Amino acid sequence: MLPMNVRVKRVETAAERDSSLALRRRVFVQEQGVPPELEPDELDEAADHVLALDEAGACVGTGRLLLQSPGVGRVGRMAVEARCRGAGVGARVLQELERVARARGLREIVLHAQVHAQAFYDKAGYAPAGEEFEEAGIAHVTMRKRL
Ligand SMILES: CC(C)(COP(=O)(O)OP(=O)(O)OC[C@H]1O[C@@H](n2cnc3c(N)ncnc32)[C@H](O)[C@@H]1OP(=O)(O)O)[C@@H](O)C(=O)NCCC(=O)NCCS
Repeated sequence: MLPMNVRVKRVETAAERDSSLALRRRVFVQEQGVPPELEPDELDEAADHVLALDEAGACVGTGRLLLQSPGVGRVGRMAVEARCRGAGVGARVLQELERVARARGLREIVLHAQVHAQAFYDKAGYAPAGEEFEEAGIAHVTMRKRL
């Protein structure tokens, strides 16, 4: 798939927040079968959220950054609209989350990667750390990257 032309930015308005949560619902609840009570969750309030907008202004990608521990951020809820995958949107969202993390003075990012998405994070410089485990009924592995 050709790279897609998207504008990636931090979520600043209620409308941007709603459209990123709606995308997460489509991807995690409807597509992947995550229980709806886990999506959204109580950590969203404190997180930095990023979204990718297509040329028509629709939200086609999103992700969030949380503070895990002093100096360490945690990326999660990475989701790209199914029809837009493989076009560089997820990579752009992840880069923006890393930019926000650096701006916050963080030195490392950890995340729980769904095992099927491990190669995506691998290409972005993340390395696996530890055994596979199950979260929301999906196999995951912890991955880390120094910023
Ligand atoms: C995982 C996800 C966010 C990736 O987003 P994406 O926009 O499709 O990824 P990109 O197009 O930016 O891919 C960047 C690179 O990773 C590779 N990649 C992406 N997904 C991959 C996968 N599942 N397996 C192998 N490689 C993958 C791409 O080929 C690309 O490689 P390149 O730089 O050599 O061209 C997206 O597939 C998604 O939303 N999946 C469903 C929800 C999900 O599983 N989220 C992850 C939770 S941990």
